[in-house]
Amino acid sequence: MSSLAVMHGRTTTVIISHGSGPPAVVYWGRRLGDDDPAAIASALGRPRPHGGLDVEAPVALVTELGSGFFGSPGLKGSRNDGAAWAPRFVEQRPPESADGELHFFCTDTVAGLEYSIDLWLPSDRDVLATRVTLTNIGDSAYHLGRLALSFPLPTQANEILDFTGRWCDEFHPRRTAWDTGAIINENRRGRSSHDHVAVLFAGTAGFDENHGEVWGFHLGWSGNSRIVAERLSDGRRYLQGGELLFAGEVVLEPGVSTVSPWLYSTYASTGLGSVSRRFHDYLRSREGHPTPDRPRKVILNTWEAVYFNHDVPTLMKLADRAAEVGAERFVLDDGWFHRRDDDHAGLGDWWVDEAKYPDGLEPLVDHVTGLGLEFGLWFEPEMVNPDSELYRNHPEWVLGDANYPMVLGRHQLVLNLANQDAYDYVFEHIDSLLGRLDIGYVKWDMNRDHVQPVHNGRAGTRAQTLALYRLFKELNAKHPHVEIESCSSGGGRADFEILRHTKRIWASDCNDALERQRIQRGFSMLFPPELMGAHVGPHVSHTTRRTHDLGFRGAIAFMGHLGIEWNLLTATDEERAQVKELVRLHKQFRPLLHGGDMVRLDSHDEASMSQGVVARDKTEAIFVYARIQTARSSIPDPLRFAYLDPTRRYRCEILALPGRSGDFGQTAPHWMNEGSVTMSGQALMSVGLQPPVMDPESALLFHLTAV
Ligand code: GLA
Repeated sequence: MSSLAVMHGRTTTVIISHGSGPPAVVYWGRRLGDDDPAAIASALGRPRPHGGLDVEAPVALVTELGSGFFGSPGLKGSRNDGAAWAPRFVEQRPPESADGELHFFCTDTVAGLEYSIDLWLPSDRDVLATRVTLTNIGDSAYHLGRLALSFPLPTQANEILDFTGRWCDEFHPRRTAWDTGAIINENRRGRSSHDHVAVLFAGTAGFDENHGEVWGFHLGWSGNSRIVAERLSDGRRYLQGGELLFAGEVVLEPGVSTVSPWLYSTYASTGLGSVSRRFHDYLRSREGHPTPDRPRKVILNTWEAVYFNHDVPTLMKLADRAAEVGAERFVLDDGWFHRRDDDHAGLGDWWVDEAKYPDGLEPLVDHVTGLGLEFGLWFEPEMVNPDSELYRNHPEWVLGDANYPMVLGRHQLVLNLANQDAYDYVFEHIDSLLGRLDIGYVKWDMNRDHVQPVHNGRAGTRAQTLALYRLFKELNAKHPHVEIESCSSGGGRADFEILRHTKRIWASDCNDALERQRIQRGFSMLFPPELMGAHVGPHVSHTTRRTHDLGFRGAIAFMGHLGIEWNLLTATDEERAQVKELVRLHKQFRPLLHGGDMVRLDSHDEASMSQGVVARDKTEAIFVYARIQTARSSIPDPLRFAYLDPTRRYRCEILALPGRSGDFGQTAPHWMNEGSVTMSGQALMSVGLQPPVMDPESALLFHLTAV
């Protein structure tokens, strides 16, 4: 006999059947009221067609091939003799529940395996977090190939939004009709990757920012991943998410357990925007999340300013300029350590380069902190250049296969952090610098994929990922005041698990405001603006060679965690004054920008893209309106806002950012000439507001204040 367990979040309900076999989600969606879960399960009970098995295997949380589930098995593996390859689990003991938690316990005594599943959904939250722990209770080793969790989705979820991408083009959205068959997204890069991000939204056809039912899923894991969305021939749809394991990567000795990454899921009946806000709220509820009383410091980062050309007097002058324009943190990027004159050498030799810094980093750190700025330092701790003292002394510390020529990436190899000696080496060098110098911030980079990652003769991405988390944990515990940023050739490592250890993600190496507008919109699907590193680069973008005025660059970076990545020593007095004004305005609106609800507007006009933040009490909002290309019509469509309070009246104005070039056509819209217009939230959402005629690749900020 099966029983039903129910969890209610703020707006969602999950019903899980258990008892007669493995636990399986029966319903996951809009919050149900007083309905009897048994009636729901009965209403959804499925008939049997001719021509199939006599019983239908459920979409169990851990799907079972052994029970006749012909989709992707949630558990794959076997023993040395080939046994236990298609296990079938039964409930071992009744589930345990506490406030917002539910735990199931299952066993297969034939296969000699046990698992427990943890579900977490507090009644005031909307994000369900689920993970599974597998234990080998047999008396021989168990070779695990997969341990993944599955959720059934109702049949109306027939369109998928997921993300592809590449370096400098992160979070590129892709819409797919979900008819039959499977969409499989496998990432083998050893980081959450630019191109196979472990996130997927499924919804009703044509779902947009404010309409449609949408289910969102994200695997919180910084290593390899596998996401499957499949429609079975019997009509059922399911989503499966788990770590992608290489052959032999996890071998469980008798008595040993392994735990899957957390799979995060959330649902909204009011479109993609609501789903994103629920993910944001989840991240914002974490301990240590930046709050208005600990605002995000405006950064000056040296990378695009000086690259590897570190010269102390120049850097000091740059810090002076940073202080003048109002930056609060100076981050010394790549190039400061032993023989790091370009990207061919030095990674691993984490001591200060004597040629560039004859008196150590101290004079620069003192200068920066003396100006009232925090000092931040770049590391790429998981890497080693073959041309380094570290590699020459310890070639055996590399995460690779010494039986083959190793594949280099950016002239570097990966260091095996699961090797305790290598781990200790890295820990000690970072720890000593953090202990010795007044460093408040670390930009933690990771710039190449894993290829043949071998640890103790086996595939080692999982071991590396776990060792990395341990390293973060130890460093954070020892240096709690230091904030760590996650960077991986831009946004190549962006996931909820890395955010347990870090406080910012560098969204992209592309500082081109045009590309950034789209990248940041994709990034915002999962992450709130205060976690998104967004920098004003030089006029000519270093990654695309496009030229943009400061008005455009500033407007796009304004919406995230602002930084400057431009050699201000080459900027004119006027430009520096403009940057100063930009920084001042950002600080003024920072509580709203970093604490409000993120809202993306839908556009029926291919030439514009707009998103913003609305204060939680809906008394104020800022939207960036970007013209991303030339348009077919000479006058843009009115901008229809969303997520405002329909009953309030808002005064709408342009928030003038400095450095804007170009005009607004022959005449600006009437309301702009008047200076402002006051309208109800309802009218702003259904009638809209006429933007001016604008050049392509320019942007404006709209500021709405409730009156
Ligand atoms: C990566 C990062 C950049 C910069 C360089 C330094 O590409 O994404 O921001 O730190 O490395 O080498």
